[in-house]
Amino acid sequence: MHNRNIVLAGFMGAGKTAVGRALAQRLSRTFLDMDAELEARAGKPISLIFAEDGEAAFRRMERELVVECSCRANLVIAAGGGVVLNPDNVRDFSATGYVICLKAAPEEILRRVAGSKERPLLEQGDKAERIRALLKSRQKLYDALPYQVDTTGKSVAQVVAEVLTRICCRGVVNPTGS
Ligand code: S3P
Repeated sequence: MHNRNIVLAGFMGAGKTAVGRALAQRLSRTFLDMDAELEARAGKPISLIFAEDGEAAFRRMERELVVECSCRANLVIAAGGGVVLNPDNVRDFSATGYVICLKAAPEEILRRVAGSKERPLLEQGDKAERIRALLKSRQKLYDALPYQVDTTGKSVAQVVAEVLTRICCRGVVNPTGS
């Protein structure tokens, strides 16, 4: 029970990578950032995977990685924002881990991703508009995840503490990492 993965899901800019890295350090666990891992495997950035191979190819790579991660234990995983699009991903992550949805207000998401050129889905047209539209189309999928933590206006340390409170209350993990 104590070695179940902790999977941070949620929309782009919700804080998955920053919170995941800090959480892994706090728990002395291995941190796995899905986007970084997929970039390493492909040998190119996400934007190029989308441009050269297409979104469908990216989703297949993402799916394979979810299957691999779900067979491992003791990981803190920052999932890509689109993993929820495939119900098999949510099912597999949930089978061996605790899936926590980080969320943030659209204005805060926009502030956090404003300088990034690495999110191809936000590069088509006005960013604020794309965020609103994508969030709307995915809202139900994010809302269905079992744990919800709002990161709006909070520091990484505050969110880490909140995530730990949630999962510790359910006896999932020892916060000392032992
Ligand atoms: C995506 C989110 C990105 C990345 C890709 C697609 C999405 O990850 O996987 O650009 O569909 O929401 P982050 O949520 O880490 O930015």
